[in-house]
Amino acid sequence: MTRIYLDNAATSFPKPPGVAEAVYDYMTSYGCSINRGCYSTAYHIEEMVYETRLLLCRFFGGNDPAEVVFTKNVTESLNILMKGLLKPGDHVLVSSMEHNAVMRPLRQLEKTGVSFTRIPCDHNGRLQASSAMPTDDVFPESLIRSNTRAVIMTHASNVCGTVLPIEKTGRFCKEHGLIFIVDTAQTAGILDIDIEKMCIDALAFTGHKGLLGPQGIGGFILNRRLAEQLEPLLSGGTGSVSHTEELPRTMPDRFEAGTPNLPGIAGLNSSLKWLKERGTASLYEHELLLTRHFLDAIRPLEDQGLLRIIGIEPVKQLFLPDRVGVVSVQTLKHDLSEIAYQLDSQYGIQTRVGLHCAPSAHKTLGTYPTGTIRFSFGWANTFDECDAAAQALAELCN
Ligand SMILES: Cc1ncc(COP(=O)(O)O)c(C=O)c1O
Repeated sequence: MTRIYLDNAATSFPKPPGVAEAVYDYMTSYGCSINRGCYSTAYHIEEMVYETRLLLCRFFGGNDPAEVVFTKNVTESLNILMKGLLKPGDHVLVSSMEHNAVMRPLRQLEKTGVSFTRIPCDHNGRLQASSAMPTDDVFPESLIRSNTRAVIMTHASNVCGTVLPIEKTGRFCKEHGLIFIVDTAQTAGILDIDIEKMCIDALAFTGHKGLLGPQGIGGFILNRRLAEQLEPLLSGGTGSVSHTEELPRTMPDRFEAGTPNLPGIAGLNSSLKWLKERGTASLYEHELLLTRHFLDAIRPLEDQGLLRIIGIEPVKQLFLPDRVGVVSVQTLKHDLSEIAYQLDSQYGIQTRVGLHCAPSAHKTLGTYPTGTIRFSFGWANTFDECDAAAQALAELCN
């Protein structure tokens, strides 16, 4: 049985050619640390790390590679940003589509006196506009309080693939003097992201999803104005200013204590170069076509009352970036977990089932507490695989 991997929203697979080799090459030919050793291989790896910062900086429209900080993943990035920034008495706004990578740190912070309000979204995961709102507003101004400090928002839902209006929200935040933090877990490497144009103050990314790198590497880009206000979550050796026991003030060292994940950075370096060469637009186009194709193939099952498709209708205007390649369904006559199990065991189709670490998003979409079966497409998936998944679903749902 051939394996059909449709769980790219969890982590992308396969990685582009060259990524595994870059990790292997680092491990077998270099294997040294950075900022500590005075020898040629250490210098070579330092250059590779700097080049990766530069690639990320350009990729996200940043100004300065020193503003790119490496972490393990977007969860760690969001923890560092939120816990370093928010103080007792602060209030933040989050969308009702957030992942627990945002909500759990926020729940922890709530115990210290930080409060939050959810910006309501509709049953398709879109920010809910009210007729009383001026057209340029993304959410009612009345949600902003005198102590509102920041808006934290996912760029796209990991449950239904709906893209949130990041650029409009960024402008709105700028006009209202709010810090704007974006979780790009489901869009980095897939949609064009420009931190300047989108007025993003802090962008959190993970390396192993759309950026097509290995697991265990992620980071954030933080403008210097905000960096000044951010208390580092971790402290320790950086290999710089070693005469003092105080953390350096300079970026990125201030937020990068300890030895970084160098094999991970080597892999990410390779995947970023591949993405640059292929162009995210063509990869997104492929993902969107697969999504439309799959949705068209399963819509008759919805018409027959066998399943419910969650989220917005597929884009009519082909490249309007209002959704990414994530499709959630609920089977109406059979247990979701049973179907997901059969998809894998009988057909080799690998999906994710249940609640996808985003209870608030599930409540918004009306899929709580059962959850959904999630099919998520990536650059290497084919139309034949979409057809096979739709066919298998039809056989199992009947
Ligand atoms: C929207 C969103 N945010 C955050 C995360 C967490 O990503 P990571 O596990 O790489 O930190 C995910 C992962 O599924 C996600 O989909």
